[in-house]
Amino acid sequence: MGIVPDTVQWLQDLLGPDVRLNEPMSRHTSFRIGGPADVWARPRDVNTLVRLIRGAGERQIPFVVIGDGTNLLVRNSGIRGLVITLTGGFREITHTGEYPDGIRLTTGAGCRLQRFCRQAVDQGLAGLNFALGIPGTMGGAIRMNAGTRLGWMSDVLREVRVLQPDGTEGILRRVDMDFSYRTLSWKPGTIEGGEEPIILEGTFCLTPEDPAFLKNEATEIIEDRRARQPTRLPSAGCFFKNPPDQEPAGRLIEAAGMKGKRIGDAEVSRRHANFIVNRKHASAADILSLMEWIQEEVKKKYDIDLEPEVQIVGS
Ligand code: EPU
Repeated sequence: MGIVPDTVQWLQDLLGPDVRLNEPMSRHTSFRIGGPADVWARPRDVNTLVRLIRGAGERQIPFVVIGDGTNLLVRNSGIRGLVITLTGGFREITHTGEYPDGIRLTTGAGCRLQRFCRQAVDQGLAGLNFALGIPGTMGGAIRMNAGTRLGWMSDVLREVRVLQPDGTEGILRRVDMDFSYRTLSWKPGTIEGGEEPIILEGTFCLTPEDPAFLKNEATEIIEDRRARQPTRLPSAGCFFKNPPDQEPAGRLIEAAGMKGKRIGDAEVSRRHANFIVNRKHASAADILSLMEWIQEEVKKKYDIDLEPEVQIVGS
């Protein structure tokens, strides 16, 4: 899609250095892969974000909001329209009160999940240690209901502040949301026109705990993760969802003989078979071919359909 000169001027006036045209998404994804976004924008406050989405609507430019790109595979031809990231602001963590069920912390969607987990540990607040080691932003973690076998975001989230597609703000409570394995959906009637709102903030309920206990637990969780998962090579975390009522995807992929298999620079991790790693110059096409190869082998051997957990976007 061509972005007309008028629109370029409007974007530059609104965002200054926080807008880039034809921006390679490989710079903004943990896979280090992905063709260009027509426009990449990093508004630093709500006011700018509102003006951006209203202006995009008026100009009929489609937009997507991403976090840190840690669960994203962008195809080689990139993303048409506007990619918005909230990591340039929206990072504040505030103590928002004490309630009978615990202490509430509110954090902006652009805050890194790891910073939030660490701050909770330092303040002697329990409930987030399950998420230690998960990359990405709070907005992404809430939207994807990030989690491990120790817990999910939905266990501790109480409400979110959102921006509706028409630019108005609102609060959606836990009862307005349906969480399931790796996803969040909004109950009918809670969002305008059925269109996805943008998560601006999340409020979490945590419980007081001895900081020394939390620190020890944190160290164990991080060490366990490092031992099981590849941490050095670019990836997007676990590639497939664990299929319901079956063996975990990693075990199935390993048993299907796929560990270490490679297409171009895309490789099934030798450490954890549910990770596809980019050994250097893998393209999205390499990753997708390897994904299909894994799916075929697991289907052939176990008659199980593996579904990607990673969001695949772009044309
Ligand atoms: N396994 C194998 N071979 C492998 C990998 C795993 O046999 O190559 C076996 C393990 O030995 C273990 C079982 O599979 O018995 C499960 O493995 P693991 O404990 O590593 O957990 P997982 O189910 O593979 C899930 C999440 C991870 C999360 C871990 C830790 C999914 C798809 N994955 O992995 O999340 O970090 O639990 O709780 O639900 C992610 O979402 O990106 C992610 C990495």
